[in-house]
Amino acid sequence: MKRIVIFASGSGSNAEQIINHFKNSELVTITKVFTNNKNAGVIERCRCLRVPIVIFNKDEFSKSDVVLNDVKSNADYVILAGFLWKIPESFIKTFQNKIINIHPALLPKYGGKGMYGMNVHNAVKENNETETGITIHFVNENYDEGAIIFQAKTQLEPSDTPEDIANKIHLLEYKYFPKVIEETILKHG
Ligand code: GRF
Repeated sequence: MKRIVIFASGSGSNAEQIINHFKNSELVTITKVFTNNKNAGVIERCRCLRVPIVIFNKDEFSKSDVVLNDVKSNADYVILAGFLWKIPESFIKTFQNKIINIHPALLPKYGGKGMYGMNVHNAVKENNETETGITIHFVNENYDEGAIIFQAKTQLEPSDTPEDIANKIHLLEYKYFPKVIEETILKHG
């Protein structure tokens, strides 16, 4: 059985999809969810789903090994599902090619520091893109630059608002992220 922990900073809709996808899995178990945001919607979702949630602060995450040691005791893979902080070098070294992130655009376009959530969809809209999509990738020491595992596209209409774009992206995320995680674990062990 492979153990997964999920990091989320916001609503946690992707975390919920992943938890439900692996609910009866014989391959994967979701041991814990971690958040850096005491007001995150993911906390309530985990309460309902009966998944342990850990709320941590910047010092515990970046200036000590408190969070890293907790993750090392509970995970073979680390999934970032809307997590906004940069992953420290110590995590990258400990979990080489075992940290997977989802980005709501077709990297390398619309990636990098500050490009998250509605910032991405606003930029896609401002540039009159005719398509956008999701990128699932391994995490390295630079924002959104790790090896790409999977991408999926969706077509955009001129009438689409940034909120319409966000909804189209969420549909792709819910459809593919859990499955791509499962396939990646099956492939890499
Ligand atoms: C998703 O759009 C994901 O692509 C991005 O952050 C968002 C998280 O949404 N990294 P949620 O918290 O899972 O609802």
